[in-house]
Amino acid sequence: MKISEISPDTHFVQMNLSEVISQLGEDDAKHILSSFSCPLNLDVENFLKSKAIEFSKRGFSKTHLVYWMTDDGNEKELVGYYTIASKFITIQRSVINYREARKLREHGIFDSKLNEYTVAAPLIAQLGKNFHNGNNTLISGKDLLQMAIDKIKMVQNEVGGRFVYLECEEEQKLIDFYESNNFKLFGKRKLDLDETDIKGKYLLQYFTIL
Ligand SMILES: CC(C)(COP(=O)(O)OP(=O)(O)OC[C@H]1O[C@@H](n2cnc3c(N)ncnc32)[C@H](O)[C@@H]1OP(=O)(O)O)[C@@H](O)C(=O)NCCC(=O)NCCS
Repeated sequence: MKISEISPDTHFVQMNLSEVISQLGEDDAKHILSSFSCPLNLDVENFLKSKAIEFSKRGFSKTHLVYWMTDDGNEKELVGYYTIASKFITIQRSVINYREARKLREHGIFDSKLNEYTVAAPLIAQLGKNFHNGNNTLISGKDLLQMAIDKIKMVQNEVGGRFVYLECEEEQKLIDFYESNNFKLFGKRKLDLDETDIKGKYLLQYFTIL
């Protein structure tokens, strides 16, 4: 017997946390999130457990839960999530090439005194796999990131825009992950006083053009 005959086909399903809250109520939503575990990044774990619902309700950011599911619907696991917020970024002319500068000029504004561009850009504010029960093995980081990017593309297809950015700790594995997925370093941001779950004193900032 072939493995394909005994292991069912699977697919991913995404759910907007706001929808989960309105369908199931806040207590059930909290219960779902309580099983999420991300020991490699406590900021990613704690955001989902203690801030995501409030931030979704107030519209500061929107969180999307990603489920792995068998096609027959018999099995379903929370495998990860991402959070998107509407922001803007400022990028120095000196850190980008001619093509990027042209795109920034077209979509944003240029400050000739400071030699920098400011442009609207959605922030991938959180992104992480669920390490509870080995669920992280059911999805790759690349697939999760692609889902966040596809969501942003869908929104930008309706309202315009080309840029997206994210911030990450100075961890070589994270740097390799984002750079291999086409993101480019453009700056560093000092941590706010309340960002206590993050390692180091600042975050690296990466952007890409979609
Ligand atoms: C970042 C992530 C989505 C990448 O997924 P992936 O490409 O499938 O890669 P893996 O999960 O297999 O991790 C690859 C390596 O990076 C390491 N790594 C992942 N996140 C890390 C982190 N936050 N800090 C340090 N190392 C990390 C893993 O331990 C692994 O190391 P190994 O090669 O020695 O086994 C996933 O690792 C993850 O969810 N990490 C925790 C959450 C996180 O840090 N998100 C980024 C927020 S900016």
